[in-house]
Amino acid sequence: MHFELTEEHKMIQKAARDFAQNELLPGVIERDANMTPPLEFHKKLGELGFMGMMVSPDYGGSGLDTISYIIAMEEISKVDNSVSVAMSVNNSLVCWGLETYGTEEQKQKYLVPLASGQQLGAFLLSEPEAGSDATQQRTVAEDKGDHFVINGTKNWITNGSSAQIYLVMAQTNPELGHKGITAFIVEKDTEGVQVAQKERKMGIRSSDTHSITFSDVKVPKENVINEVGFGFKFAMKTLAGGRIGIAAQALGIAAGAYELALKYSKERKAFGKEISKHQAIQFKLADMATEIEAARLMVHKAGWLKDQKMDYNMASAMAKLYASEVAMKTTVEAVQVHGGYGYVAEYHVERLMRDAKITQIYEGTSEIQRVVIARSILQ
Ligand code: CAA
Repeated sequence: MHFELTEEHKMIQKAARDFAQNELLPGVIERDANMTPPLEFHKKLGELGFMGMMVSPDYGGSGLDTISYIIAMEEISKVDNSVSVAMSVNNSLVCWGLETYGTEEQKQKYLVPLASGQQLGAFLLSEPEAGSDATQQRTVAEDKGDHFVINGTKNWITNGSSAQIYLVMAQTNPELGHKGITAFIVEKDTEGVQVAQKERKMGIRSSDTHSITFSDVKVPKENVINEVGFGFKFAMKTLAGGRIGIAAQALGIAAGAYELALKYSKERKAFGKEISKHQAIQFKLADMATEIEAARLMVHKAGWLKDQKMDYNMASAMAKLYASEVAMKTTVEAVQVHGGYGYVAEYHVERLMRDAKITQIYEGTSEIQRVVIARSILQ
């Protein structure tokens, strides 16, 4: 067992940090305020090789390990979580799902542009009445011989308007419950697909989150992923890896807020000395540093298990549960260290505090992570 990053990991960390600090930081406050989708950065992430980090170079990816992905996610999430969530969904949910379960034709047609960053993907599972209880899919896909026809509504879709390719879960046989759910590849510009309401969110405000409606959308049979009835398993297996990405995002939010609080505490003076010299602030910094270190170890362990092709279902749920709690707690404390300045946009910690909350909700709430962990313990 060793805890050192390799030279390659350090290079990826530096590239991600430089990108975040030099390119994302300058406009992040305005994008957040105006809810401007960070479209130009999706392309730049592709040029850096960050959109299909773990995908084989045979399919347009970078062929890196999960630790590299975690490191890049952490650095980018210190600054702009609307960008890092797009990156996470594209890497963990869309590209991983297609590389693992897609046919050769599907990989050539869809994975290559997605992994190389020429196109962006979205993952359409949640519905108005199927969030945590994902088996309750109301979107239906009717078998019409050589194609399916999809009707229904999906909610809370990250990259809803900016993605070109959707992975859509729909019910093909309601009598079979979750075993009747099928996953499809749907091109967004197919007739009948409508990008509907844009959400006005507390955090990750410039990430474009939409409802998507399907009205008699024709999807060819060759766009079924794996086989009819595999959609729920597909979603669950994909989300198990996705949770490592969101755990890394939460880690980055916590680490970013901590770094800002540490810097501010060494500059700001009160009662005749820098506030970092007051024990009240030192204890906060010590707790933040300790909890971030624990979260980082858990996230890297989950990634390592995935790279070793070992079972990572429980480890990814634990990492997401813990890292998202650390993100929430650390950002609240970072605002407190900043005092009144922490409450205004220019100091960045209030945005990170708003962003932290979503990491306890998407890709399964904290309660769902506990369900997954408890089932793993008790099985
Ligand atoms: N891997 C493989 N199979 C799995 C699995 C996993 N991790 N988890 C469950 N399954 C299988 C089970 O084995 C079972 O199969 P069988 O019937 O063949 O035995 C089947 O799936 C049903 O499982 P459960 O009975 O456990 O299902 P459940 O309804 O009790 O609950 C749940 C499962 C874990 C609560 C699940 O519904 C869940 O994860 N819910 C949260 C959904 C979620 O995370 N949504 C996020 C939306 S996407 C998003 O947020 C992306 C974004 O934009 C950022």
